[in-house]
Amino acid sequence: MTDRKTKTAALSDLVPDTGLEQRRTVLRAAGSLAVASLSGGFIPIALAEENSSRPKAGHRLVLADEADKRVPLQVSDIPLNGKPVFAFPYDLDSKTAQDGSRLNKVALVKVDAASLSDDAKKFAVDGVLAFSSVCTHQGCDVTEFVAKEHALMCFCHFSKFDVLKSGAVAAGPAPRDLPYLPLKVEKNQLVVAGGFSSTPGVKKTG
Ligand code: FES
Repeated sequence: MTDRKTKTAALSDLVPDTGLEQRRTVLRAAGSLAVASLSGGFIPIALAEENSSRPKAGHRLVLADEADKRVPLQVSDIPLNGKPVFAFPYDLDSKTAQDGSRLNKVALVKVDAASLSDDAKKFAVDGVLAFSSVCTHQGCDVTEFVAKEHALMCFCHFSKFDVLKSGAVAAGPAPRDLPYLPLKVEKNQLVVAGGFSSTPGVKKTG
């Protein structure tokens, strides 16, 4: 069943990621339509934005699929060369997970830190890297990590992104690299160190 949060997220994700101010303008214009379409009643646009702004420095990361258990993830929570761990940024002050947009979701992977390129070392912490989990081809979820190829993979059309090389396209039709989210560590917790390296999701051209 589609819940209220999902409906709100769907509205947000329809708006191109062109910056917060522009997104606000478009969202306000679309507000009445959105409200009219929601069977659950009125949802203020402010609420729609509260949990859908992009990740920023200082956010923690919490498991994407445990909405009732918001515990900041640590380096030790990410398995070496294992399956990706999916997470949303989390604002400690407002105690809000930024889970109102799937464009905020990241795939966390851990590799041997020594194998990282010099560029990748700059945004990794103890071998842990965070990438957008939305494929840059047609927006499917990037769900797998192929350890022997050190690549995140999208099953829709089999694009692969090399995590050792900052998410560079390694195979498939994806037109651009997978955006990464820089990390640091504080009190053993993974902390977002800045915004995405580029616009997450499908980027319109022309
Ligand atoms: S949507 Fe990911 S490869 Fe096509």
